[in-house]
Amino acid sequence: MENRIYFGDNLSIITGIEDASIDLIYIDPPFNTGKTQGRTQIKTVQALSGDRVGFQGRRYETVKIGTKSYSDTFDDYLSFLEPRLVEARRILAPHGTLYFHIDYREVHYCKILLDMIFGRECFLNEVIWAYDYGARTTKKWPPKHDNILVYVKTPEQYRFNVDAIERIPYMAPGLVGPEKAARGKFPTDTWWHTIVPTNGKEKTGYPTQKPLGILKRIIEASSNPGDTVLDFFAGSGTTGAAALTHGRRFLLIDNNVEALEVMARRFEGVPSIEWIGFSPQPGLYSHGQGSLFDAAPALTGHGSNHG
Ligand SMILES: C[S@@+](CC[C@H](N)C(=O)[O-])C[C@H]1O[C@@H](n2cnc3c(N)ncnc32)[C@H](O)[C@@H]1O
Repeated sequence: MENRIYFGDNLSIITGIEDASIDLIYIDPPFNTGKTQGRTQIKTVQALSGDRVGFQGRRYETVKIGTKSYSDTFDDYLSFLEPRLVEARRILAPHGTLYFHIDYREVHYCKILLDMIFGRECFLNEVIWAYDYGARTTKKWPPKHDNILVYVKTPEQYRFNVDAIERIPYMAPGLVGPEKAARGKFPTDTWWHTIVPTNGKEKTGYPTQKPLGILKRIIEASSNPGDTVLDFFAGSGTTGAAALTHGRRFLLIDNNVEALEVMARRFEGVPSIEWIGFSPQPGLYSHGQGSLFDAAPALTGHGSNHG
């Protein structure tokens, strides 16, 4: 079966997905921050009158390319999520897993909602994605982590591919001997990983884009080659990009045309994608960049790859 990317409201689309047909779901819904999430993209071009001075005194000016945004305010966040999570559970295969990405503001309410839908016995982990980037408030402990709640459909038969999970360096390799040091250690539920680098190849310009390294680890751990991975809050398509490099089939859904445009650029030249409700225009989205999905840094140990 082909990969698919849908433009539209996710509830009506996932309602049409067959029972127990999805192996892995990752979702990163809007965090209900009450803001419009936006990101302005800029580039610098050489100009005699430019306000920035670079190598050998060359002058550059900053040009705004565009702004991408989506609304992140819901009157009743949990009522918005609930029917979607009920559908998510229905369409997961018996061995399937849901990764639900959220932040500290809503995670406790979402945990209770997910416990009610999946059952507390199906709660596997709370993964903390810790990063160390951006401004630090001095009015409280600066929040520098996201929460990923992991639920399995059936506690006795979920996929968890220990041997496929990339190991991370020991903090003090000298203390464990050369063999162990070379093998690295098994990661815990706390993942230190940089945010998407602001000027790296991986960056699409879509607000709240998540790092490929996080999605790669999830896909390696909780799905097998040939499995179907679904992300129904797809944004820039990070889940699809990671699925593609790992030989998994993907289904992506978003209701923001800007997300579809970003995905059209990200997956330009990938033949095996069926677009539903949206027609990508070949060549229209490429700003001289190549394909973006092969640029993920590896996840590493505590403190060594963040910010
Ligand atoms: C936090 S972003 C996801 C970012 C994504 N993980 C990435 O790496 O780019 C949430 C996305 O959910 C989409 N969204 C919000 N409500 C939706 C709905 N009802 N149906 C489909 N997509 C929706 C927004 O347009 C936004 O792109």
